[in-house]
Amino acid sequence: MLKLVFLETSLELVPPSIARHPAVVKDARRRKKKPTKIILDDSKHHAAMKDLDAREKRGRPDIIHQCLLSVLDSRASRFVDIYVHTLDDTIIWINNETRLPRNYNRFIGLMEDLFEKKEIKAGDKVLLKILDAELEDILKDVEAVVVLTEKGERDEKFLREIVRSRDDLAICIGAFPHGDFEEDTLEILEEFEAEFVAIAKEPLTSLYITNRVICIYEDERVLSDRNR
Ligand SMILES: C[S@@+](CC[C@H](N)C(=O)[O-])C[C@H]1O[C@@H](n2cnc3c(N)ncnc32)[C@H](O)[C@@H]1O
Repeated sequence: MLKLVFLETSLELVPPSIARHPAVVKDARRRKKKPTKIILDDSKHHAAMKDLDAREKRGRPDIIHQCLLSVLDSRASRFVDIYVHTLDDTIIWINNETRLPRNYNRFIGLMEDLFEKKEIKAGDKVLLKILDAELEDILKDVEAVVVLTEKGERDEKFLREIVRSRDDLAICIGAFPHGDFEEDTLEILEEFEAEFVAIAKEPLTSLYITNRVICIYEDERVLSDRNR
């Protein structure tokens, strides 16, 4: 089983410090929700976000929405255990059988429900869950940790080889709009002796990197010659 971990994901509720800003209040009113119960979205709350810390990494839940659809649509999905680590260190587990809304507004509504209830179920089956866990807990029981970054010293050939040779692997991809991983995140990754892989030396999108990783995983582990 592959653990796919999205790091520092730009997904959070509106922080109380900007809950009274007119841009937030207007959006919350329109959606008949409390300002602190809606997901922060740069396209709607831009004016309110200008003084937030680490502002350039926040308010882009569309990035993880696209990445999750890409993983869940793939033929690798049932071999992948999906974790979303957020910028404020929340850990969300996504059941790989979840049929995520393809519509962005519905996805946002689902995430708001998740932050409220901590768990989303369909019948007895848990689909999404906020875990009482830290990033270290997710990485501690794998054989190897690989991090995708344009600054990586390893290349795609190395990624293919490690995917082919290791059964218990965690592959980590950033799901924030700009910039690098935080020092705290890098310290944890280094603690696990992570291998840093660059697909290219230029910055690419989270969606492209997710697609690339999934294709490599499908090639190496999922698709036999017969069902290719
Ligand atoms: C920092 S985010 C930037 C996202 C982008 N602005 C978007 O809208 O998707 C992109 C993530 O993809 C991975 N990534 C980007 N470029 C890469 C590259 N050349 N090689 C390997 N991984 C890369 C890293 O994990 C990085 O954190």
